[in-house]
Amino acid sequence: MCGIVGIIKSNSLKTEAIDILKKLEYRGYDSAGISLFEKNRIKTIKSVGKISELEKKSKNFSDKNFTGIIGHTRWATHGVVNRNNAHPFSDENLTLVCNGIIENYLKIQNRYVDIPSNIQSDTEVSFYFLSYLLNKYKNPDHAIKTFLKTIKGNYAFVIFIKKNDSFYLLKNGSPISLSHKAKSFYICSDSSILSSYHNKIYHLKDGDIIKINNNFVKKLNNNSKISFEDNSVSQNPYDKGKFQHYMLKEIHEQPKVLKDTQEKYISEFFVDFETKFKNLFNVNKIVLVGCGTAYHAGMIGEYYFNKFTNLDVSSELASELRYKNLNYNQKTLYIFISQSGETMDTLMALKYVKKYNQKTLIITNSLQSSMVREADVTIPTYALKEVGVASTKAFTCQVLSLANLSLEVGKMNKSLSNLDYNKNMKILGLLPAKLKKLIKDFSPIAKYLAKKITLVNSCYFLGRNIAYPIALEGSLKLKEISYMHSEGFPGGEMKHGPIALIDKNTMTVCIAPNNELYEKSLSNAQEISARNGKIIILSSVKRINKGSTEMKVSNLPKENFIDTPFIYSIPLQLISYYFALNEGTDIDQPRNLAKSVTVE
Ligand code: AGP
Repeated sequence: MCGIVGIIKSNSLKTEAIDILKKLEYRGYDSAGISLFEKNRIKTIKSVGKISELEKKSKNFSDKNFTGIIGHTRWATHGVVNRNNAHPFSDENLTLVCNGIIENYLKIQNRYVDIPSNIQSDTEVSFYFLSYLLNKYKNPDHAIKTFLKTIKGNYAFVIFIKKNDSFYLLKNGSPISLSHKAKSFYICSDSSILSSYHNKIYHLKDGDIIKINNNFVKKLNNNSKISFEDNSVSQNPYDKGKFQHYMLKEIHEQPKVLKDTQEKYISEFFVDFETKFKNLFNVNKIVLVGCGTAYHAGMIGEYYFNKFTNLDVSSELASELRYKNLNYNQKTLYIFISQSGETMDTLMALKYVKKYNQKTLIITNSLQSSMVREADVTIPTYALKEVGVASTKAFTCQVLSLANLSLEVGKMNKSLSNLDYNKNMKILGLLPAKLKKLIKDFSPIAKYLAKKITLVNSCYFLGRNIAYPIALEGSLKLKEISYMHSEGFPGGEMKHGPIALIDKNTMTVCIAPNNELYEKSLSNAQEISARNGKIIILSSVKRINKGSTEMKVSNLPKENFIDTPFIYSIPLQLISYYFALNEGTDIDQPRNLAKSVTVE
């Protein structure tokens, strides 16, 4: 979690660092800080709250005469949210910021008397420990190397040491990149942000110690040269255009990014599928792995692979998989799904299965991410940068990727006829236009339904078969941006316990596609209605006759199995958005969350 920026040589150190920190707010936003420095002086400013607070606080402070700056936006892991625990940690000799977690900080704190015993933050302990080493060793390089040998965890540090007027970058597990042009260097934990500044970039590798001194950059961990590569990502995802929130903008972008993703797949990526992927899919089992929304995409993928292929398939939460025993005698392909490609639980699960020589594939929206570097094969989604913390367009692109993969594998393994393959591919091709119309038509309905949800204390989502993960995702969306208590259930499970929750203060959204389980879904709705629970039925069935008290939304477009997740998820995104808007929550940056969860 957290976001890091560093700049050496710029005419507007403060403005640029604060600009970058605002872009990094998706990584956490409970406190922030900057340190400006030059060879004789370090000045640190910190504040609690969002970057706008830091901006106000540092407004009257001039950055003239300073040569560099480091900055940080925090998502608290160790130590409460307050000014002291905000980064950078600094004194007159040293300033540093850190992303990630130092796992053995308590051991270090107990071992060295110079480290105060009353501090709670792992980074503050690291700061005191490095100060101690800088006093002990004449050469700061030795202090840094010893520091690195002692600390354990997943982290990225950016450090300025006054004694030798040097800047250090350390990496293990957390992403950090360095871009440069002539004498100017920019450092950031999100490499895509650096493309607006320089077009040459280096992504630090685990174990790297980079030192920048007098415009000179070198590696201290080994003698290899730092090979800068081209960084030509060009987009401006931070422009909200006519939309009030990134989330709404990103919901509306779905037809376009799904179209782009599908076009890339059929014109490039999956052309000659058999030659490219036969070996990878020569397995008996597929396991789909992710966290949160990406896990829900994986669950949808499970239904796709189950329908279109003859392979055994299951889905797993990354945070659970990595503590399970693997059956590594079975030939298995693990498909990881991650928008950011940096989620620590997913990354660790990927490393875990790799240890057992399992085949790995990553579906991601971030081609420069750690997971891409780990996995055997990468399948990109082309959702472009997603800024809102609540995943919308990245999710539907992940689902599209899994739909294509399952069709390709089904066709290759002959478990799917050419006719059915072509029929489904055609449906996917028509999807963007269908969704564009759906967003337009459904938006006023979503506003109306959102008002109905204000009348209740809890909101449940029910679905069967492929609609079950859609229900889970609908519930996650609602709770994360509106803080409304919400849960998702498989329809068939209601009578086994959850129905006890139903009373007049609850709303249940029944997702009832027009398939062989439609009647059963309606029965669920009736049972809830009979217990005075409020009901919304989402369906494409034009006439819903059963019951009288339900709110029926029966004008969704006609769906097929393969496009059901898109047709039902987007209305749920819109309902959540408009409900949260009424509640007045911070939709793009909901409390306690972060876009990319890089701690376990
Ligand atoms: C989605 O709305 C959530 N914010 C969250 O569940 C997210 O999907 C999860 O943390 C996984 O992120 P990733 O796709 O970047 O791995």
